[in-house]
Amino acid sequence: MADLARLETTHELEAVEYDTERLTLRWDDGHASRFHSLWLRDNCACPRCRHPQALERTFMFVDHGPPAIASALRDANGMLEVHFRAGAETHVSRYTKGWLRAQTEVERSARAQQSAPALWDAGITGHLPRVDYTDYMEAAGGLRVWIEAVKRHGIVLLSNVPREAGKLLDVARRVGPVRASNFGEYYDVVSKPRPNASAYTPMGLELHTDLANWRSPPDIQLLFCLRNSVVGGESVFADGFRVAEDLRDADPEAFRLLSTQPVEYRFHDDSCDIRTAAPVIETDRQGRLHRIRFNNWLRGATPMPERVVVPMYQALGKVWRMLRDPKYRLNLRLEPGDLISYDNNRVLHGRMPFDETSGERHLQGCYLNQEDVDSARRLLDRMAT
Ligand SMILES: [Fe+2]
Repeated sequence: MADLARLETTHELEAVEYDTERLTLRWDDGHASRFHSLWLRDNCACPRCRHPQALERTFMFVDHGPPAIASALRDANGMLEVHFRAGAETHVSRYTKGWLRAQTEVERSARAQQSAPALWDAGITGHLPRVDYTDYMEAAGGLRVWIEAVKRHGIVLLSNVPREAGKLLDVARRVGPVRASNFGEYYDVVSKPRPNASAYTPMGLELHTDLANWRSPPDIQLLFCLRNSVVGGESVFADGFRVAEDLRDADPEAFRLLSTQPVEYRFHDDSCDIRTAAPVIETDRQGRLHRIRFNNWLRGATPMPERVVVPMYQALGKVWRMLRDPKYRLNLRLEPGDLISYDNNRVLHGRMPFDETSGERHLQGCYLNQEDVDSARRLLDRMAT
């Protein structure tokens, strides 16, 4: 099907039924899938309809009349062969059963279920998904465990990373190109004499998501511990989706406000002034959680209607109290060689204050795009078939 993914199915096609407009496939598990002639014709992947090398669509449905299904049958190779007619024009399209099955609602929802977030709270302590550095870098299985953990739990710890500057970028590039920001391709989290961000002080950092002031904040954050001998400075994490779902149950009005009322976030220093306004909780069209955007030191002076001021502060205060509740918090002391990665659109991170005179603390951080994580997973799937 001009698809680099080898789409296989163990299910058999038991019957093919059609009229001029619709095709119905009956599968051996009792599932029936219907395809409209317009959609089927548009998704023909023959070399006339897709570029034979680039595999991109070249067929322009708008230049053709409405296609009618003239006949549909299974050929000797198990392909579904559909003959279309549009006025005087005819076309034959062939589809593998694996590709057809992959388009069905039952398979689509099974794939969505596989990647559905498994929400967590403090109970994850002691069960944090972990992968060894060598497995991750050298074995497809190690990379897959890391990717699945990021998708499911939104957090994973890589252990035994050689304590060398630059290893952070090697780890990131195993998945894809690094997503740069105004802090560069990567940044060193050390306390600085003239800090331009709270991260570069020994202050405690309340739970937050990074770069909330960007229209699209980075998806995956990687934080590598090179040195950590200070007193204090433990890392803290919380599953923002868990907190948001509990808020939705306990106080639907607060959830509604936080998912509709924009909050302005801003970062500015000598070299930039980057701001955006967006709700704290973003949901998709089905109401499923899409993104948490929460960062107190980047929160700007957000204008809001007077009637919203009190409920908005009440709702934000409720989230703060939940985030400070130990039942949601994972406390983790990062050891040198630990590299923690988490979904910055879901998992909030922070740290306890530390005594900068008691030792050294040096972390390095960078970001990855979710698209590259998903792509790496599909490439692993392709290799496995
Ligand atoms: Fe941060």
